[in-house]
Amino acid sequence: MTRRYALVTGASRGIGAAIARRLADEGYDLTLAARRESPLDEVAGELAAGGAIVQAVTGDLSSEEEVRRVADAHLERFPLLHLLVLSAGMSFAGEVADFPLRRLDRMVAVNLRAPVVLVQACLPALRRAAAEDPARGARVVALASLSGVVAEPSLGLYGATKAALISLCEAVTVEESAHGVSATAVSPGFVDTDMGAWAADRIEPSSMLEAADIAELVVSLTRLSARAVVPNLVVARAGEQVWRA
Ligand SMILES: NC(=O)c1ccc[n+]([C@@H]2O[C@H](COP(=O)([O-])OP(=O)(O)OC[C@H]3O[C@@H](n4cnc5c(N)ncnc54)[C@H](OP(=O)(O)O)[C@@H]3O)[C@@H](O)[C@H]2O)c1
Repeated sequence: MTRRYALVTGASRGIGAAIARRLADEGYDLTLAARRESPLDEVAGELAAGGAIVQAVTGDLSSEEEVRRVADAHLERFPLLHLLVLSAGMSFAGEVADFPLRRLDRMVAVNLRAPVVLVQACLPALRRAAAEDPARGARVVALASLSGVVAEPSLGLYGATKAALISLCEAVTVEESAHGVSATAVSPGFVDTDMGAWAADRIEPSSMLEAADIAELVVSLTRLSARAVVPNLVVARAGEQVWRA
C-alpha cells in the first residue's frame, strides 16, 4: 500500500493534537509543528510509541522564516504530502472600535499569512501526491471558525482573519482542484480546548464541541474521492443558537 503523509500545525494540543492522533491511527507518516518543544515532543512521543513515523518541528508561525523551516522539514524527511492541516491559530478578543492594530497584525500573521506561505511551499508536494493517486487526490484542511462565517461580538477581527482563511481555501480549490488538490475550511463554534477556555465563564465546557469530533470530520474528508470538494464545513454546538459560536 502507498504510504500517506501529513503535516499538521498546532499539533501540540487541542484540535491539532486530536487530528494528529486520528491520522496516526489511519497510518499516516506525520510532521507535527507548534512553537513550544516540550508539549509537541510529548504528542510526537505518544504517537511514535503507538507505531507512527513522526517528526516534531518547532517554529513560531508569525515568522515567515520559521514557517518555511516547518514546510522544508516535512519536504526533506518525506517524499510527498497528501494532507496539509492548518490548525495553528490565535485569537485576541476586543471590539472593532478600539482594537489594537498590533494584535490584528499578529492574528493576520499566524491565522492568514502563515497558511498562505505553507500552502505555497507545500503545493508542489501536494500536486505530486495527487498525481500519484488521482482517485483520492490531496487536500488542505484549515481550521477557520464559525465567527468567520457569522460575526460574533468581541471576536469580529479574529473572525475577519478566519473569513479570509475560508476564502483562501476556496481560492486553492478553484485554482488547484482540477489537478487533484482541494482545500476545506472547518468552521466550528467553541471547542473545549485551551483556546475555548476563554469563553468558559459564559459557555459550559461540557456544552462545547469536542476536538475529537473535528478530528473525525478531517479523517472523513481524506476518505472522499478527489471529485468531491468541500469548501467549508460549519460545525455548530447543540442547542438553540446554531449560528452563534
Ligand atoms: N477552540 C475553539 O473554540 C476554536 C473554535 C473555532 C476555531 N478554532 C481554531 O482551531 C484552531 C485550533 O484551535 P485550538 O482550540 O486547538 O487551540 P489551542 O488549544 O490554543 O492550540 C493552538 C495550537 O497552535 C499552536 N500555536 C499557537 N500559536 C502559534 C504560533 N504563533 N506558531 C506556531 N504554533 C502556534 C499551539 O502551540 P504553541 O502554543 O506551543 O505554539 C497549539 O499547538 C485555531 O486555528 C483556532 O483559531 C478554535
